[in-house]
Amino acid sequence: MIGVLDSGFGGLSVLKGLLKELPEYDYIYLGDNARAPYGGHSRETIVRYSEEGVEYLFGKGAKLIIVACNTISALALRHVQNKYIVDGGLKGKKNILGVIFPACEAAVKATRNKRVGLVGTKGTIESKSYETEIHKLDPLVKVFGVPCPLLVPLIEEGWHEKPETKMILKKYLRPLKSQGIDVLILGCTHYPLLMSDFKRVMGGKVALIGDGEVVAKSLRGYLAKHSVLKKGLSKGGRRVYLTTDEPGKFKELGEKFLGNKMGEVEKVAL
Ligand code: DGL
Repeated sequence: MIGVLDSGFGGLSVLKGLLKELPEYDYIYLGDNARAPYGGHSRETIVRYSEEGVEYLFGKGAKLIIVACNTISALALRHVQNKYIVDGGLKGKKNILGVIFPACEAAVKATRNKRVGLVGTKGTIESKSYETEIHKLDPLVKVFGVPCPLLVPLIEEGWHEKPETKMILKKYLRPLKSQGIDVLILGCTHYPLLMSDFKRVMGGKVALIGDGEVVAKSLRGYLAKHSVLKKGLSKGGRRVYLTTDEPGKFKELGEKFLGNKMGEVEKVAL
């Protein structure tokens, strides 16, 4: 199966992209809602939580884990890859991929003036992980990162359509507007729910890059190159949804991120 690991609901926006692009595979989604949000936690805490999530998903039979959460990808991806992947992972046993590289690749491709904006949680922005990946691809690209810590709680409270949220978003984006960026990376699982507001504030000349679609396209390419892994993934369209907190709430908000109905949700302990 393909495991999808997230701090809570948000990774369902990435799963949405995966289900659209690669619906034939079986997926197991784990949201650590009991300890979310991760965005303001220290690296040490996120590393510990992600080890537990990764071990749980491998224990359930996942052969490939997509770390859908940007904060985990930024702060702990290298760590879990180094700890759990043996033999380069391509023997079809254990593989872990994050969401940052695909977005950086898309951003470097899309920018004309080499000025790229980035929004995300505090942890993601402070980690400088996006800059590192972007500069590997093109050292001349300038990256302007802005943390938007209020957006996750507002969205989780169901306030994404309220004027207060739009006002806060506008305020967060003001410094990016004055930097003349032509690409903006939405580096957080929750922000696709505000996509039309981001578009309105940034204007039609700024290309927006969300994770769902680019991650799914990049995974398709990755599987095409790694046939042993591809063959090892089970198919049949099975979906398993797990949360470490209350399943009812997970389902209610989760369906907004997924953009679809969810089957049964099971509560698990890590
Ligand atoms: N999933 C997180 C991210 O994409 C947002 C929610 C959280 O802070 O846990 O960065």
